[in-house]
Amino acid sequence: MTPLRTPRFLQCHVADSAADRADIEAGLLGEPARAAPKYFYDRLGSHLFEAITELPEYYPTRTEAAIFAAHGAAIAGRIGAGATLIDLGAGNCAKASKLFPLLEPKRYVAVDISVDFLHDALKRVQREHPALDVVGIGQDFSTALALPHDLVDGRAVFFYPGSSIGNFAPNDALALLRRIRAQADGGGLLIGVDLVKDTATLQAAYDDALGVTAAFNLNLLRQLNRLIGSNFRPEDWRHIGLYNEAEARIEMHLEARHGVLVRWPGAQRAFRAGERLHTENSCKYTVERFGALLRDAGFAQPAHWTDGRGWFGVFWAPTD
Ligand code: AVJ
Repeated sequence: MTPLRTPRFLQCHVADSAADRADIEAGLLGEPARAAPKYFYDRLGSHLFEAITELPEYYPTRTEAAIFAAHGAAIAGRIGAGATLIDLGAGNCAKASKLFPLLEPKRYVAVDISVDFLHDALKRVQREHPALDVVGIGQDFSTALALPHDLVDGRAVFFYPGSSIGNFAPNDALALLRRIRAQADGGGLLIGVDLVKDTATLQAAYDDALGVTAAFNLNLLRQLNRLIGSNFRPEDWRHIGLYNEAEARIEMHLEARHGVLVRWPGAQRAFRAGERLHTENSCKYTVERFGALLRDAGFAQPAHWTDGRGWFGVFWAPTD
């Protein structure tokens, strides 16, 4: 009889509400005002993001899934079986679980900002894969990536799907890729990246007809109110999703519909009509540019797969 395994959990990151508060206040008082995209993802925000992935205009999630469906065997052939698969921003662990039959990892390490989010998902993973060694880690890998040294059994294969790398400016993306490279010796990185395409397609994906992305963007204001006690009213703001061609990035902003005075304990910020709060960048890459970034980060020559329209790229960057 196989012994019953249970997932192990490690919380390395402690939510720091004072740091969040300082970060939000500095952003609101900045010129221009800004707020970090991590504040989108409270419970409602996470549900709204899931709804976005179902929209006809939002192609990245389904395009990436189609690439894995079409090329999964080839991708797995490059990577090889028996690795420790480290899933960055694992969430419900669905994308990684789908790859288990092909990748046959020995150990699965799910990293997310809070282990609490991972509990149910990892119990399900363990039930469906009784022989797999399952570990959950609570860590904010965007600022630090310090995995326990005995975490990797065999080769380390990092998994970073969904074009989440796009939220980082190219230089910060490079820094994150270097941190990953430093911990992937003998393994590599499997990463999904949204690619540059025509402006109309990009803008529709971030400004959809149903207004789901608008709701997702506006929900950030409720989260700020909760975190710093501000008095934002979503009805005072308009969603903006535009493609900045020079910077090759989608920008999301919230634009004041009229003059708005936002107050919170200790300070306030006046917004003129039309003034914006910058909430997100979603950087887009060409295959060449992202390949160069991976090389710059110290990986060996990457392999890549795209869909028929060349809208999304999946890259396998081995360390050697
Ligand atoms: C989760 C960062 C990949 O940039 O496409 C979706 C977030 N923002 N619609 C993206 C998002 C607006 C998404 N990422």
